[in-house]
Amino acid sequence: MATVSTQPRKREAFGSRNVFILSAIGSALGLGNIWRFPYVAYEGGGGAFLIPYLCALLTAGIPLLFFDYAIGHRFRGSAPLAFRRMHRAAEPLGWWQVLICAIIAVYYAVIIAWAAMYTWFSARLAWGAGNEENFFFTDFLQMGDVSDSGVSTTFVPQVGIPLVVVWLVVIVIMVLGVRRGIGRVNSILMPLLTTMFVILVVQSLFLPGAMDGLNAFFTPNWEALADPGVWASAYGHVFFSLSIAFGIMVTYASYLKRKTDLTGSGLVVAFANSSFEILAGIGVFAALGFMAQAQSTDVAGVATSGIGLAFIAFPTIVSQATGGAIIGVLFFGALVFAGITSLISVLEVVVAALQDKLGWSRVRTTLTASIPLAIVSTGLFSTTTALAVLDTTDAFVNSFGIMAVALVAVIVVAWLLHKLPTLQAHLNERSSFGLGLLWKLLVAGLAPIVLGYLFITELIAKISEPYGGYPNWFLAVFGWGMVIALITLAILLSLLPWSGRSRAKDDPEYDEFLITEDYAPDPETTAVPVFDPANKGERS
Ligand code: ALA
Repeated sequence: MATVSTQPRKREAFGSRNVFILSAIGSALGLGNIWRFPYVAYEGGGGAFLIPYLCALLTAGIPLLFFDYAIGHRFRGSAPLAFRRMHRAAEPLGWWQVLICAIIAVYYAVIIAWAAMYTWFSARLAWGAGNEENFFFTDFLQMGDVSDSGVSTTFVPQVGIPLVVVWLVVIVIMVLGVRRGIGRVNSILMPLLTTMFVILVVQSLFLPGAMDGLNAFFTPNWEALADPGVWASAYGHVFFSLSIAFGIMVTYASYLKRKTDLTGSGLVVAFANSSFEILAGIGVFAALGFMAQAQSTDVAGVATSGIGLAFIAFPTIVSQATGGAIIGVLFFGALVFAGITSLISVLEVVVAALQDKLGWSRVRTTLTASIPLAIVSTGLFSTTTALAVLDTTDAFVNSFGIMAVALVAVIVVAWLLHKLPTLQAHLNERSSFGLGLLWKLLVAGLAPIVLGYLFITELIAKISEPYGGYPNWFLAVFGWGMVIALITLAILLSLLPWSGRSRAKDDPEYDEFLITEDYAPDPETTAVPVFDPANKGERS
């Protein structure tokens, strides 16, 4: 048996299960929870939305969170390596997730940069009372129209400079690695974020008109439940919010020690994420109730969507409320912290994949992956057409990236490779509560039906009407072109050879894992050398 000349590389690990849980919660809690959920919930029937939301969480969110954990922990690798160890032909699924994360990272960073600037603007009420909308679009973003002038190259310094700073901060965290960077940052930021958010919510509840906001949020509109679109948006939201199906949980679970309660950890993460989300809904709608009262209108008149809610409605509240500057600093500061802990998890998917494939050091891989992403992010999103590019890439990568890869992954893993019993046994061997037939039925049965329905609905909607009213050439490049490029590149990347140093054979902890698990590899995966139990200490 050939001996290996390369030095073994020990896989990084989180310091403890609690640090993993904090990091997984840090990834899940993001921009989606703070300003997306409140509006999606309001649109989807207010209080009644909690029914489809909880159904989506219990029937798809939590089962697929376990699915991701099991893949990452059982096959011990970044998304492409874990899928490849499952079956050689499944490697492109992992690269597809990596590329989705690369796209999300480039636009996610810019929203954090806006929030950082708005934290500063809040302290000085920089927008001037009554001028919030104009300030955001004209003074701050200097927004131009892609229909008139195409994609702009005009640099907007008040966006570009903080964006570069955001990238520098996350690159430093990433260079420090899983334990000293990601684990430590989450251990500091998550308690801070929770404290800030609780203060914000309590403060919002004492604003005049807060109860009107809560009534609008919680009063059920039962008719909304008859609309399939409401169910679709509940499922879509749960995927994005829990950070499932885009490689994050696969990667994070690969950094867990062998004996870890996976299902117990998953439940803590899922319920922490949902509790935060509902808390965000309460805080945001209490504040909107105040705004509606101040403007003598109703809550429906002031509840605007995503970006508008955060960067127009909140500054208006900051201008009008007593102690508004504190509300603004807490809200935008919370967005920055929640965003950073999610962005590092998104980037870790990319860094871990390249590190596994190329066998490079942490520092070299991080810089090689992050600097080009930072340049693309700054180049595209600190110009006057940033908002249109962001809006389009976000909409397309969610529908035809995350949803599509989730659909293909459950079909491949459950129906083509028949791996659910392996994953189920892995989870059950080490977890506080076992998963039964129901889990397999939900993952193999309900998930593909729901995801397939969502995918087809989205496809019809986006084909029948140009998304956002943008020109066709623009959608062809940043929408359709981008999603097709991701799939093509994923296949090409899976064809590149693996570095000898990055393989399972060079990872002592992985070997130990294999011995203990009595791992029997698939014959198809033999291209990735495996441990030979009959010949301990030697690696093939
Ligand atoms: N789960 C992260 C969010 O909600 C990506 O923003």
